[in-house]
Amino acid sequence: MDKFVIRGGNPLGGTIRISGAKNSALPCMAAAILTEDEITLENIPQVRDIETERRLLASMGAVVELREGEARDRTTICCHTLSDPLAKYEIVKTMRASSLVLGPLIARAGMARVAMPGGCAIGGRPIDLHIKGLEKMGATIAQEHGYLEARAERLRGTRLVFDKITVTGTEDLLMAAVLAEGETEMLNCAREPEVADLAALLTAMGAKIEGAGTSTIRVQGVSRLHGARHRIIPDRIEAGTYLIAGAMTGGDLTITGCDPSHLGAVIAKLEEAGARVEIQGPDAVRVRGGGKLRAADISTEEYPGFPTDMQAQYMALATQAEGVSLVKENIFENRFMHVQELVRMGANIKVDGSTATVRGPSPLSAAAVMCSDLRASASLVLAALVADGESIVDRIYHMDRGYERIEEKLRSVGAQIQRVGNFFPSGNR
Ligand code: EPZ
Repeated sequence: MDKFVIRGGNPLGGTIRISGAKNSALPCMAAAILTEDEITLENIPQVRDIETERRLLASMGAVVELREGEARDRTTICCHTLSDPLAKYEIVKTMRASSLVLGPLIARAGMARVAMPGGCAIGGRPIDLHIKGLEKMGATIAQEHGYLEARAERLRGTRLVFDKITVTGTEDLLMAAVLAEGETEMLNCAREPEVADLAALLTAMGAKIEGAGTSTIRVQGVSRLHGARHRIIPDRIEAGTYLIAGAMTGGDLTITGCDPSHLGAVIAKLEEAGARVEIQGPDAVRVRGGGKLRAADISTEEYPGFPTDMQAQYMALATQAEGVSLVKENIFENRFMHVQELVRMGANIKVDGSTATVRGPSPLSAAAVMCSDLRASASLVLAALVADGESIVDRIYHMDRGYERIEEKLRSVGAQIQRVGNFFPSGNR
């Protein structure tokens, strides 16, 4: 089991290039199910969740090619034959986003057998809203033996109102609607940039969509879609993570290949906390730390509010800020798994329900810590970058799901970080 060994104390300086957005690549790869033609996606991040999605599509009969070498950020997917519209539990249990194949499979093949994803470290993660929307479009969905058995002659356009804002729920139903009979109007949709990116791909494939990226999306169903080529947007959460790294370590870091327009809430919060942030053109942001960081509260909200996927990383920064920062998590019910590990490094954090109170600045001391989920991992790496001494961050397979070559990117700007194999038989800390 790989670990990171990180010696803290170095201010980060230089330039880091951002990879493509995992949470856009995943629905876009699933969209290939909607056509018999070939889809080519560029700027695909080389992370574990992408490999999992590749295995999932291939297990259904798709031909999925991830290029190597300098074209390694490109993948072509051809679902000409879908011999087995089944998403096996063995794959789904490792990646909840597998449920994104549900809508496309019903739309393309009239049937789907998808393992229920189950919960994960950050919460129950139900998909009841996906199911409710698909049933309203005419699908019959039974649940047995841990699987969803879905069938539909042809999905019918309808009016859908999401009870809660759901990112993959919006994406799943958008992919179901593009081949449905008639018009679908979706209200209370997620406005995340990844939804608009998926809609851009679907439109390039011949879909008729209006309003993607707003809370109301209208779709005119068409009878078939054709192949397309699409470049995935940059990963705004990866970018935000490195901006926090630059601010926390008192460095001078430029993030390139990003989209500053997706980072509004994060940049505003970093400035409120005392970091100097400059947008340097359409795809670059510079952050300088060095001054005292000031406490600032956050409350996670759907886009364009402060992202829940940045909450753990921000909490690491708050441990170094002067004063009391309140961190309110409104999206997931159990997204404070990083707190106890940060406390073990010397942070002063108290959790009461969905609010964590962070008192700082606390000098952090290096420790052996353990990752629990993707973004909690990032929080521990950030803390280790400023901790006194050498930390061991264990179970970094969680991190490999969504951060491409993070140790290389951090080393390139002066961090002392190494990936090593298992020091002790697994389980010893
Ligand atoms: C997406 O998850 C992201 N994953 C998550 O990123 C992100 O944290 C989340 O959106 C919120 O922004 C991908 O895009 C692959 P939701 P998703 O449906 O779609 C409840 C990461 O770190 N809900 O928007 O699964 C749900 O329990 C990952 O990259 C229902 O109740 O999240 C949650 O409380 C982690 N019923 C809230 O809605 C449903 O049917 C928002 O969840 C669906 C969701």
